Amino acid sequence: MNINKLVRPELVVMKSYIPIEPVEILEQRVRGKVVKLDGNENPYGCSPRVYQALADYSYYHIYPDPGQRKLKEALEKYTGIARQHIVCGSGSDELIDLVLRLVLEPGDKIVNCSPTFGMYPFSAEICGGMIIDVPRKDEDFALDIMGIKGALDGKTKVIFIASPNNPTGNVIEEQELMELVDTGRIVVIDEAYFEFHGVTAASLVPAHRNLIVLRTFSKWAGLAGFRIGYGVFPVEIADYMMKIKQPYNVNIAAEVAVLASLGDIDYLRGTVQKITTERERLFTKLKELGWLKPYPSEANFILCAMLQRNAEEIWRQLRQRGIFIRYFDTPRLKDYLRISVGKPEDNDALIKALKEIC
Ligand SMILES: Cc1ncc(COP(=O)(O)O)c(C=O)c1O
Repeated sequence: MNINKLVRPELVVMKSYIPIEPVEILEQRVRGKVVKLDGNENPYGCSPRVYQALADYSYYHIYPDPGQRKLKEALEKYTGIARQHIVCGSGSDELIDLVLRLVLEPGDKIVNCSPTFGMYPFSAEICGGMIIDVPRKDEDFALDIMGIKGALDGKTKVIFIASPNNPTGNVIEEQELMELVDTGRIVVIDEAYFEFHGVTAASLVPAHRNLIVLRTFSKWAGLAGFRIGYGVFPVEIADYMMKIKQPYNVNIAAEVAVLASLGDIDYLRGTVQKITTERERLFTKLKELGWLKPYPSEANFILCAMLQRNAEEIWRQLRQRGIFIRYFDTPRLKDYLRISVGKPEDNDALIKALKEIC
């Protein structure tokens, strides 16, 4: 029996998503502690109240609420947007997938503005969609709004914009956003890094039938392992999302963790502040090296272009020292590194190693 003949042909040839490796595996590999600056995670972890809330909770044997009532209530307070606009997912990754499953028929298209987060083309391909790439501009990775508008046709359903964008760290302006909304396509603004920037499009959602804002607890709240994100949707789309999601898509531990986190906002804002302060210090240190160009970032990572250096080689040498970052070697991002902002001691270790290597 040839299983490949049973699998959808486009999935047989599709490239796999390359995820980052878990910390335990990295530690085994280097036989010691690692400095993990490759996943844009929060080095300070989650609120201490999360541990207490998880220990105190006693209904793990009961399914979570498919209606997500407590979560929506807490998120209404946090976002200032009425709860009927809010839907939670198992990470914002799940919400990206659900939006596409809701609207894409095979052969429909999405607009992807590379370089950007890999999950948009990945999920679109799984849905049988086609990816129309409208690359960001050369100098500063600004969006090519004219290019996006010119690329639309009757099959284009969704435009994805990450703001701040991963891995470039820059943001969309409100006027650009409105131009995209006026195209009538579904515009998804992925604000996974919102808390490090502080400007949001969420308040625009209730007035527009085709604007979606996605957020996550993975970055600012230190809950990446729990897999929980949420979106602010126009009510019509929110209703469809609730209709097609798996009933128990958000697990109860994630729910407990989020409720505890939203009850400890000041603590979390404190860690976000530490990270953004550290981001600026790291930026200066990287610039001082003289052989790479860091790009200003509104998120918790910094993209760097190598100046006559090989990014893969630097990445490899850092790995040997137990320091893990991301490198890119695509046509658009040739010889680039992305460094997540760590604690001051992690960033110092990185800078010291970079000085030794070059
Ligand atoms: C732009 C962007 N959106 C979404 C995600 C995924 O978030 P989550 O952990 O909620 O699935 C990431 C993770 O790196 C990201 O960079």
